[in-house]
Amino acid sequence: MKPKHLLKLSDWSTEQINATLDLADKLKKELKAGIPHPLLKGKTLGMIFEKSSTRTRVSFEVGMTQLGGYPLFLSSADLQIGRGEPVQDTARVLSRFLDGIMIRTFAQQEVEDLAKYGSIPIINGLTDYCHPCQVLADLQTIREYHGTTVGKTLCFIGDGNNMANSLIVGGLKTGMNVHIACPKAYQPAADVLEFAKAYGDHFLLTDSPREAAQGADAVYTDVWASMGQESEKAQRELDFAGYQVNSDIMARTNPGCIVLHCLPAHRGEEITAQVFEAHANEIFDEAENRLHAQKAVMVMVMGEA
Ligand code: CP
Ligand code: NVA
Repeated sequence: MKPKHLLKLSDWSTEQINATLDLADKLKKELKAGIPHPLLKGKTLGMIFEKSSTRTRVSFEVGMTQLGGYPLFLSSADLQIGRGEPVQDTARVLSRFLDGIMIRTFAQQEVEDLAKYGSIPIINGLTDYCHPCQVLADLQTIREYHGTTVGKTLCFIGDGNNMANSLIVGGLKTGMNVHIACPKAYQPAADVLEFAKAYGDHFLLTDSPREAAQGADAVYTDVWASMGQESEKAQRELDFAGYQVNSDIMARTNPGCIVLHCLPAHRGEEITAQVFEAHANEIFDEAENRLHAQKAVMVMVMGEA
């Protein structure tokens, strides 16, 4: 039942995802009630960052401290990995010192290799392919606002990127209908689309944001140019014109529809300032839930069985 790693959500069963969400809710309640929960007392988490971060770094660092453990920030600019030391060696060395590693990097293969060559739990803190930690916080937020994920409709508008890939897998696995609207040249990963095929009518892929928004209980968007794609920004602004979450999109959604954004957001690009501010409560609850969901992930993979 207890997963060894969190490399991508497709590795986890629905039961494992739901157990993590339940634990996140419990840890959130305990924190707010001032009840200590030192479930990782004395354990050390290494956090390797090859890309920038606000939420992921702070949620893991604060979360590990609240769990009684010690978080160690490791910038790739300072590690030998940044000078070409192979990931196979880094994995074996760090496994001798640490109890777990959270890594944010470019290639998914690097995360898979850390798990393959190391002997400690590995947590994916974002790759170009997926962002499973974020989606667990997103699902926790959807449950808070709608009571359940089951039967609810999640609509993602924008780039078929790491967020889209993880939302498809996480949403479908927890009983949601998932609607994705992205330009034809920016579709989600082929293996994720293959995974979604098994869910039949519960999955919709379209290039029409209006079609995707129909009947949505949660509308989600993300930046048009992700980290590492800065040089494509101007072209992407042209290609994603028409893929903005605005009042016209929101008019097509169900009553009580929430808006989610993993952040950072670019007002006036993927979302209007008006829609962002009208739904700021949900978006910042979602950001807060990174803390609770990430604590649950650490306990799931690093805690005692
Ligand atoms: N949403 C998210 O992962 O934020 P950071 O890039 O700030 O960690
Ligand atoms: N798609 C974005 C998500 C940031 C949390 C990126 O990869 O930059």
